[in-house]
Amino acid sequence: MELNSTRISLRPFKIKDVDDFMIWAGDDEVTKNLQWRTISSKEEALAYIKDVCIPHPWRRSICIDDHSIGMITIFPESGDGRCRAHVGYAVSKEYWNKGIASRALKLGINQVIKDYPDLVRLQAFVSVENKASQRVLEKCGFLQEGLLRKYSYVKGQLKDMFIYSILSTELLSSVHH
Ligand SMILES: CC(C)(COP(=O)(O)OP(=O)(O)OC[C@H]1O[C@@H](n2cnc3c(N)ncnc32)[C@H](O)[C@@H]1OP(=O)(O)O)[C@@H](O)C(=O)NCCC(=O)NCCS
Repeated sequence: MELNSTRISLRPFKIKDVDDFMIWAGDDEVTKNLQWRTISSKEEALAYIKDVCIPHPWRRSICIDDHSIGMITIFPESGDGRCRAHVGYAVSKEYWNKGIASRALKLGINQVIKDYPDLVRLQAFVSVENKASQRVLEKCGFLQEGLLRKYSYVKGQLKDMFIYSILSTELLSSVHH
């Protein structure tokens, strides 16, 4: 069942998120399709929040009632790549299939284009097996542009990845749905 979307918010990470953060960042099922290692101790979680999440150009905690239950990362490129940014996200397993990632992605992409006026294109790479993530991107209006064969290792396995994108001109119409 969809969660009431008014309970979902995005905000920068805080050190006090550490216990909530460990619940999902420490879960192999959540991290299996991500390019990062499962967090295995509170010290590692604290260091990750402090050294990676907080200084990141645009990484937000997905919160329910201000508790961190996931993250969304949008990484803008620079120089001649400043027109584009890469998108990634994860949600705690107990909250899967309630519309949370889709809501968070819509909020995130609409905010980031205001924060980075040069952004024209948001893109995401998704392994072929990750149907839930493909569905999230499709619900947010991303277009599947193609299949990148043997594109990247994820947890030691070479994956075929789909590439998806959405343009800033296509965004305004997608946030309200
Ligand atoms: C991908 C992920 C973020 C989705 O989060 P979520 O909050 O459950 O997403 P939503 O509820 O907004 O949407 C999920 C959609 O996928 C669908 N879905 C879930 N599993 C599916 C499957 N195996 N096959 C097809 N569709 C599936 C759901 O039914 C839902 O679609 P619907 O609303 O049309 O019914 C979550 O599964 C996750 O954190 N996975 C691990 C990290 C990850 O893979 N991140 C993405 C890396 S590219």
